[in-house]
Amino acid sequence: MIDAVRTFYEHDCSNVHRGVHLLSQRATIAYEKARTTVKNHLGANDSREIVFTRSTTEGINLVAASFVRPRLEPGDEVLISAMEHHSNIVPWQILCEERGAKLVVIPIDDDGDIILSEYERLLSERTRIVGLVHVSNALGTVNPMRNMIETAHAKGVPVLVDGAQAVPHLAIDVCDLDCDFYVFSAHKVYGPTGIGAVYGKREHLLEMVPYQGGGDMILSVTFEGTTFNEPPHRFEAGTPNIEGAIGLATALDYVDDLGLDLIAAHEGALLADATDAVLAVPGVRLIGTARSKASVLSFVMDGIHPHDIGTILDSEGIAVRAGHHCAQPVMARYGVSATVRASFALYNTVEEIDALVAGLQKVREVFG
Ligand SMILES: Cc1ncc(COP(=O)(O)O)c(C=O)c1O
Repeated sequence: MIDAVRTFYEHDCSNVHRGVHLLSQRATIAYEKARTTVKNHLGANDSREIVFTRSTTEGINLVAASFVRPRLEPGDEVLISAMEHHSNIVPWQILCEERGAKLVVIPIDDDGDIILSEYERLLSERTRIVGLVHVSNALGTVNPMRNMIETAHAKGVPVLVDGAQAVPHLAIDVCDLDCDFYVFSAHKVYGPTGIGAVYGKREHLLEMVPYQGGGDMILSVTFEGTTFNEPPHRFEAGTPNIEGAIGLATALDYVDDLGLDLIAAHEGALLADATDAVLAVPGVRLIGTARSKASVLSFVMDGIHPHDIGTILDSEGIAVRAGHHCAQPVMARYGVSATVRASFALYNTVEEIDALVAGLQKVREVFG
């Protein structure tokens, strides 16, 4: 991935969709090829259904502003779950406030599963969009996305899926899921920061209003008015993150070459071992014990603040995330202010689980 970004700067560095000169043509080809790679990776039908964004966060804001805002009337509802990341809460909250609409939240149970009967009940004739996380970053829950999308569609409601944590761990097929929008960030899947993508069904993108105005998103401009470009360019105003898109595509090629099924199997085995090993440490309580989980182990220890656990583990060379994971409502649901989260990826090993457990024993020694 790093080599691909460097090669772009060394050999093809230019803007896209502009010049007729060789470097611009090469940059444009590389950028559009990256779009095709994302399309193939997500199992979409058409490269024009892929919009490059800055991140998952920007992708959700784009859908909120360009798809949902024009169709949201006072009294309408936006339905999300209680396990969403702040980036799938706050854009909807801002929009609902602006339009006099209501943010409705599907509750989750003690294990961290969405209560599906409540989901069905809360889907109303006023629901204009459902926003659901595919894999929860705070709990590890893998939501039954295909069924949940089917349920929403049966009531005519479109669904946006936050795939930030799913893309590195699961093979995604947006056609099989039949989601209306799927958003993710490159940096979660071994790509660069500052780049992500939105998959949007072509019929939705075609009817969406621009998100930001500027160069590249237009066909013609006069002082009297502007004709907008076709999707996806309509939603990519200004010079895009060209090297980011190339880096993202290279990262996706990398995980595709390894095979996401193999990656999921490796991470699943690590999660199973780590769950048993960490639970054997006295005083540990898991936060998130859903039926289906990705390789996220979130936990607290009796009487010890997660930041202290994180600091001691760090001194042992172990990087865990300690905090609210940008999911404060999840923390509130389980009555904690923060958790420690060990996340397992394709490069982790069984020995590292032993090191984690030894680190937790040290935490216990330090705190008596
Ligand atoms: C589930 C989930 N959604 C959204 C995001 C936001 O991603 P980004 O900060 O790349 O926009 C994250 C990041 O941690 C996440 O884990």
